[in-house]
Amino acid sequence: MAYSEKVIEHYENPRNVGSFDKNDPNVATGMVGAPACGDVMKLQLKIDDNGVIEDAKFKTYGCGSAIASSSLVTEWVKGKTLDEAAAIKNTAIAEELALPPVKIHCSILAEDAIKAAITDYQSKQDK
Ligand code: FES
Ligand code: FES
Repeated sequence: MAYSEKVIEHYENPRNVGSFDKNDPNVATGMVGAPACGDVMKLQLKIDDNGVIEDAKFKTYGCGSAIASSSLVTEWVKGKTLDEAAAIKNTAIAEELALPPVKIHCSILAEDAIKAAITDYQSKQDK
């Protein structure tokens, strides 16, 4: 199966690979796995006191499409509020990367990782 140019570009030059300290109260961590293939994606958001995402990092153990999806998402969420980030749809990721149908679940993983990170952040704030 051929990967699109955008997938290859993100795969070869992934943006924002790495981690933040998950115990930092301003850091949200979303870790999700894809049952279909066993791939794992960790997305972390650094959120300022106004609820705006100032930075993002990811680590993904997975296929090229999963890596490209997480790389793209770290770029998209920066400067967004949590509500805006929560509104990012996997269909937009899949469209941007021209993912074929068998790779749609890779973009769903990225959407799920954003949602998991936001849930983590909200549970931290409730403490
Ligand atoms: Fe996920 Fe191959 S099925 S990397
Ligand atoms: Fe499973 Fe991409 S995340 S094949």
